[in-house]
Amino acid sequence: MSSVDITVVADAEEAARVVAERLVEQAGAGGSIVLTGGSTPRRAYQIAAELEPDWSGVELWWGDERCVPPDDPQSNYGMAKKALLDRLEAQPAAVHRMQGELGRDEAVAEYKHELAEAGTFDLVLLGLGPDGHIASLFPNFPTLDVTGRDVLGSQAGHEPFVERISLTLPRLCNTEELLFLVAGADKADAVARALDGRPSHATPGSLARSAEGTTRAVVDRAAASKL
Ligand code: 6PG
Repeated sequence: MSSVDITVVADAEEAARVVAERLVEQAGAGGSIVLTGGSTPRRAYQIAAELEPDWSGVELWWGDERCVPPDDPQSNYGMAKKALLDRLEAQPAAVHRMQGELGRDEAVAEYKHELAEAGTFDLVLLGLGPDGHIASLFPNFPTLDVTGRDVLGSQAGHEPFVERISLTLPRLCNTEELLFLVAGADKADAVARALDGRPSHATPGSLARSAEGTTRAVVDRAAASKL
């Protein structure tokens, strides 16, 4: 398993800024970015929109989604729309959102179709749950062993307890760069296990490494305290 290049910064705000700068660099270069959900990336998306209002060269994808409508407060797309897309002057070349409102199986089928032509991603952004989950791939779930497919449906293994759609582990790892953004003391155990421990199904983050490219992590001091 390749090692992770870890950058430790003072706090969540600085972590968001470092990640925003990387997002903006990719937005300028074009290619593809896979966004993550949860609450940690919100600030990074806001800063990224301030730094660069023209995202017309890049395509956006999502690593996972909750099975709710896009305007639901639990929607990962909805969060990114408010924090990033609604603040841009020029929209991305394509916004490939997972259609959670269709229900799990139909949304998976639609995204599978949408991903059919997509090659290696340029940048996959991932958060990390306090239990070590990434995207909607939860500890010790059989979904961690799914190969030969790009996208799957899952029960929730963590709040919010709504059904999920997720890229599979091999599809998330099919990227030039995989970038973790993690902040907060409640993530310290998970960070140590995911970024510096042995690969284990108990900690899905420990299984997420770019297959052929680089894996980086931007972690605030509180989350890095057990490294
Ligand atoms: C989701 C996510 C998930 C998230 C982590 C961290 O849809 O829930 O994509 O994997 O990244 O749960 O979330 P927080 O940033 O909210 O802690």
